[in-house]
Order: sequence, then C-alpha cells, then structure tokens
Amino acid sequence: MCGIVGYIGFRDAYPIVIKGLHRLEYRGYDSAGVSLFDKELKVYKKAGKVSDLEAFVKDVDLGGTIGMGHTRWATHGVPSDRNSHPHSSGNRKLTIIHNGIIENYGVIKEALLSKGHVFKSDTDTEVLIHLVEDIQDVTGLDLREAVRVALTKVIGAYAIVIMSADEPDLLIAARKGSPMVIGVGKGEYFIASDATPIVEYTKNVIYLNDNEIAYLSREDLLIKNIDNIVQTPYIQELDLKLDALEKGGFDHFMLKEIYEQPRSIRDCMRGRIYPEKGLVQLGGIKEFAGKLKNIDRIVIIACGTSWHAGLVGEYLIEEYARVPVEVEYASEFRYRNPIITEKDLVIAISQSGETADTMAAIELAKEKGATIFGICNVVGASIPRTTHAGVYTHAGPEIGVASTKAFTAQVTVLTLMAFYIAQQRGTITESKLIEQLTELNEIPELVEQALKLNDHIKEIAWRFKDSTNCLFLGRGSSFPVALEGALKLKEISYIHAEGYPAAEMKHGPIALIDDEMPVVFIATKDSSYGKVVSNIQEVKARKGHVIAIVTEGDTEVKSMADYVIEIPQTGEAFVPLLATIPLQLLAYHIAVMRGCNVDQPRNLAKSVTVE
Ligand code: F6R
Repeated sequence: MCGIVGYIGFRDAYPIVIKGLHRLEYRGYDSAGVSLFDKELKVYKKAGKVSDLEAFVKDVDLGGTIGMGHTRWATHGVPSDRNSHPHSSGNRKLTIIHNGIIENYGVIKEALLSKGHVFKSDTDTEVLIHLVEDIQDVTGLDLREAVRVALTKVIGAYAIVIMSADEPDLLIAARKGSPMVIGVGKGEYFIASDATPIVEYTKNVIYLNDNEIAYLSREDLLIKNIDNIVQTPYIQELDLKLDALEKGGFDHFMLKEIYEQPRSIRDCMRGRIYPEKGLVQLGGIKEFAGKLKNIDRIVIIACGTSWHAGLVGEYLIEEYARVPVEVEYASEFRYRNPIITEKDLVIAISQSGETADTMAAIELAKEKGATIFGICNVVGASIPRTTHAGVYTHAGPEIGVASTKAFTAQVTVLTLMAFYIAQQRGTITESKLIEQLTELNEIPELVEQALKLNDHIKEIAWRFKDSTNCLFLGRGSSFPVALEGALKLKEISYIHAEGYPAAEMKHGPIALIDDEMPVVFIATKDSSYGKVVSNIQEVKARKGHVIAIVTEGDTEVKSMADYVIEIPQTGEAFVPLLATIPLQLLAYHIAVMRGCNVDQPRNLAKSVTVE
C-alpha cells in the first residue's frame, strides 16, 4: 500500500525514481509524485497513474542527484493532486513521502493548528512533516534529531523518506510496520518499499527493521534506532532476477504469472520432496519437527486469496496428519480473544509478508505462547522475520495485483506441510507417501497441459463476458477453489461472483438461478463427484448455464453441462492445483474482454499494510 522510492548519489535521480515508481505501482496507483533537489527543492505530483505524472512533468526541470517518489493508495483523503505525496512543511523546506497510517494524526493536527500551522491536504502525512518542522522551530534541534523526536510522538505504521532544502546531501528514511529496503551502491544509496526498483543497480541490500532510522548521504550510511542508539547494518545479497520483473512478451503480468505456474510449483517443491524414498524435507521448520508430534491443533491465519489457500490446507492437513485445523481471517482473529495455547501451531500465510492484519494476528498468537510458522513469498518481508520458522513459496515476484502463482505455490507448500506433519506424527505410511509424492511430482507437467486449454476457455469467456453475476460451486477441497475462482472474477472484471460449497446452493443461492446465470462447477472425479452431478442437475432444471471443470474423459457431466473444461486426471489431494488454472484464465479473459485493467484493478493494492 503506497510505494516509496528514493535515491542519493551521482546519477540523475529522476529516471531512477520514476522507473522505481513503475515497479512499485502494484502497491497503489491512485496518484504519484516526486521530490528532487537541484539548487532548490522541487515537488511535482498528480492524481492518477505514474504515467500521468510523467506526462505532467515532461516540460519541467527534473535535474538533481537526490530525489524521492511515491505512488499512492489513498487512506486519508480522496485521491487528488493536493493529497498526493510528497507533502511539504509550512516553510516548504522539508518534503516527505509516507506509506502507512499515522493513527494519532488528528490530535497532533489540532495542536499544530492552534500554533498557526496551515495544512494544504487532508492527509496524516502532511501532519507528520509539520510536526518535524514545529519541533525544529521550538527546540532548535537539527533535522536528524527532530525527525527522531517526531517519530517518538506518532502512533501507527510508517515507512517514510524526508528531504530538506537545507541539507541536499541527506535522505532520512524510517520504518515501523511498513517495509523499507536500502540498496547499497558505491557512492550512492537507494531506498524502496521492496527490492524491485533497486535490483538493477545493486544486489547489496539492507532491510530496515521496525523503529530504525537511516541517515543516508552520498558517502555514508548511519542507522540508529528510535532511542538514538547506533545499529550495525546487516547487508544481504539479493536473490532476484531482473527478467522476473518484466512482462516477457505477455500482454499482462497476470497472464505471465498464470503461465509461470508449472515453473513456480516445481521451484516450490525443489529439494523438498523425494518421491522414491517417500520423504518430505522442509528445512525451514525442521527445528520444530519434534514439537509437531505433540501439537493439539493448528490454526491457519491469512487474508483473501491466502485464506483460500489455508482452507485447502485444512482439508489436506486433517486428511493426512489427523490434527484438527481451524482457518481464520486474520482480521477477525486479531479482534476477538481467541483461545490459543502453547500446544497450538499457528500457520500464517501471506504472499507479500506485509499484510497488517496477518502481522497483528501473529503478534497476538505469539503473546499467547503458540508456535508460529509462516508461509510467505517475499523473502525478507516482515512476516517471515516475525514468525518462529517458515517455508518460502519461491513463486518469484508476483506483480499482477490479483494473486495467481502465489496461490498455487501456497497450496503446494501446505500440501508439503501436511505430508511433513503426517511424517512426524506417523499418520501416513511410507508406501502411501511414495504414491502421493509421485503424483505430486507430476503436477507441474499437468499444469502445463491445463494451460493448453487457454483457447477453449477464451471462447467460454466470450460467451459470458457480459454477465452481471456468477456462481462458483465445489465440494471438499474444491470449495475453496470455487471461492478463489469467484474472487478472481470479481476483483478483475467487476462481475459480482460468489463461491459456495455446492451442497449449500439449495439453502439459499439457488434462488438466484435463472436463464441468465452462469454457474461454474468444479466437478472432477473424486469422492464427491456423484453429489456434484446432482447439484448440476438442480441448476440445469432451473435453466442456469453450467460451465463444468471435469476430469479428462468425463462423459456424464459433459452430457448435461453447457460447457466443459477437461483437466488432467490426478489424485484427489492435488485437484485444487489443477482446477484453479482454468478459473484464473476464465477471469483473466473475461476481464480483458470487458476492457478492465487486469494488472491494476480499481481500488485494490497488492500489499495491504493498513487494517
Ligand atoms: C486477491 C489477493 C488478495 C490477497 C490478500 C492477502 O487476488 O491477492 O486477496 O491474497 O490481500 O495478501 P497477502 O497474501 O500478501 O497477505
């Protein structure tokens, strides 16, 4: 939510900043702005996309070897030119960009208003830069110290960068609860919300920790904590390739990411499964292998698509490891008084590793003594740094706002975890594990086959592109797949869609079915096949249009459905990994046909760092 980027060094800052903003645009895209210093402090900002900002500044002076930029997802104040970042202090000597929320900005603003401060925007961010100015005015502190003192007075989450007209050789960056990476070059430094704007200039990065403030000049970097104690920076090498950030010939990142799934699922399993030995190894959690024998319960916490992956995990873990599993929305979990004990294992799932609700839920479970595992895609993000142990999904950067390859990678990790926990608890035999892992190992190839259905799915999309509603139905572990199919369709095409367990249809949603209503069934040959066939008949009897995802060679459903999409045969445990693919493609094509921006759907942001 909101992307920030900064540069100080010997190169022109603007091209680096603007390119960085394009890379970070997935984090928010309702307005953008830059601040540069070259003889004077300049601010250019505009409501709209980064490309609107580029058009806006095409005739202005963009010189300067120090600069910063922001792409916004509005929290306080509607998207508009004046609410766009950077914001300036009253004396116009300081500028700030900010990702996060200053919760007590109202109280601070009141106090500053009474001292005569005049605000030009409705944002919490502007209040913070006025506070810094006020502290300098009242105490005479230098900028470094004034920023630190200001940060001791704010409640909330932030990643900020500040520039000053009086100190053109200084960028101040600070973080609490919102991500911030510093790229370390020779005579230059980069700052960004994630490493994607940095990777083409340097592989050496520092992930700033909560409550740390970085003071960057061209020659030097100093990190202190909020208590003014100098910190030793830990420089890490980035494992990120530049081509992972390009569309690679695809029309959209989302399509590229859908097509990457054979690779991403393979990468996720690499070095972790040994089918011939019937063995799963998860290095990230092996320290807790003994503990897994004695846990009473597993609670999975996540949001959105990651929550859907958690629901698939519930089926798999209960089936193989025979431990009761509960799956909770992190946002609900954190605001009740959940019963969590030291004998519980909590698994937090997050693609971005930054989701505010999931972070807060982890903290709560930790306080109650649970062991916390993370399943995360972004290496070095906040969640993997907060959990006790975890498993990375290794799907690679996911730039399309609608999650695709991260979901199948999460499901893959949960499948591996189910087998791993089962191994530790002795609830699966070696021969069963050999059989299951052999099938799982074939999934990447089967996903490749499923992707060949693209043209057929495009024809179906054409038929339903003008629908206003759509139901997605499945049973067992295909129920969360139905939820995910509905979420994909609604978030990128703006068609109202709902997912239900197929058997629940007759308890309400059946009232919606008429000769306009498309109903997508996941009707693969598994233990609930016969029941789903009956549900299809119920829809057909009410003239609904049935699109059925079936197992290759199916004839029964084919005879009653309007459209069938045949996916390869696989074991019941692995159906979610295959059945998801056509649903992603269906949503994608419908959205493209409706002229929607699939990579940046309205109102959404990839990384939800506010609650
Ligand atoms: C939907 C989608 C969101 C995220 C949710 C959680 O396509 O991407 O529903 O799944 O915002 O995000 P993470 O997984 O980053 O915690």
